[in-house]
Amino acid sequence: MTDKVFPNWQPKNSELFSKHLISEQHSLHKHELFSDEALARLIEKTPRSNYHVNTHDLKHIHKSTWRDGEFGNLSGEQVLQAVKDGHIWINIQRPWEADSAYGDILAQMFDEIEENVPDFTTIKDKNKMTILISSPKIKVFYHCDIPGQALWQIRGRKRVYIYPNSAPFLQDSEMEKIILGRIDEHDISYQDWFDEHAAIMDLEPGTMAHWPINGPHRIENLDVVNVSLTTEHWNAELRNHYAVNYANGLLRNSFGMQNLSKPTSGLGLYARLALAGFHKISGLRKLKKMDYKVDFRVDPEEKLGFKDISAYTMAK
Ligand SMILES: [Fe+2]
Repeated sequence: MTDKVFPNWQPKNSELFSKHLISEQHSLHKHELFSDEALARLIEKTPRSNYHVNTHDLKHIHKSTWRDGEFGNLSGEQVLQAVKDGHIWINIQRPWEADSAYGDILAQMFDEIEENVPDFTTIKDKNKMTILISSPKIKVFYHCDIPGQALWQIRGRKRVYIYPNSAPFLQDSEMEKIILGRIDEHDISYQDWFDEHAAIMDLEPGTMAHWPINGPHRIENLDVVNVSLTTEHWNAELRNHYAVNYANGLLRNSFGMQNLSKPTSGLGLYARLALAGFHKISGLRKLKKMDYKVDFRVDPEEKLGFKDISAYTMAK
């Protein structure tokens, strides 16, 4: 692709990027890699290890009601039809492993952000893209993400609620537990009144949103099928922030320390980088085991887009 990902980058976003919530126009909704036909082929090429298809309870949207499914032997078009008419979402991870063209466009996306944002340099082999294809009215419960994140709308419309990345919206102790792998990112505390403090953004095709690191958010698809991308990135500043939270989590959980500072330079930072690095390398970090119970198969003939099957376990 010779066209720019960001045809009209706004100069103000060069100053706001990563510090405040921004939206910027992109051209990926017109890119051939994200047409329905290309996505159908990608679905067919994606190995089992690189996708999830999920549904959530119609009333209780918390992650505890999420179910995992499988595509079975459907064509890509049949899977897309089930998403359009049903109540499921698909998450295609590492699409460049199925088709390297997705890796090329991912590299271009970050090259252009780096050209536009002074002093912003990502760690290239850690940049990631995930493709989300989701039914009308699907919701994603309140959570925070650990890496730098952006959300890119390709088709359909969704409403994104983005909250401040500090207490009470995000408690240090909870984020540290996520980083240590002791709780899930969807387990952070949420109260209805938080919404009074949320920035609310309706994403249209061709819009990208980016917000400050770890900013909690929740998402509601409007009454239309959605295709979106999420990207993840790391740079030196985010890596240090991660290590400080990791080390503070150890100090709080293992040594009972409170009122922990979050140094961004000097000895306090270096001590935490060393503590986090030692703990991780020495294998002391116990990640939660990722076993998924798969109990439905996508089916475009069914009202909700899937039918129940005998449950089996998929380890990932
Ligand atoms: Fe997220």
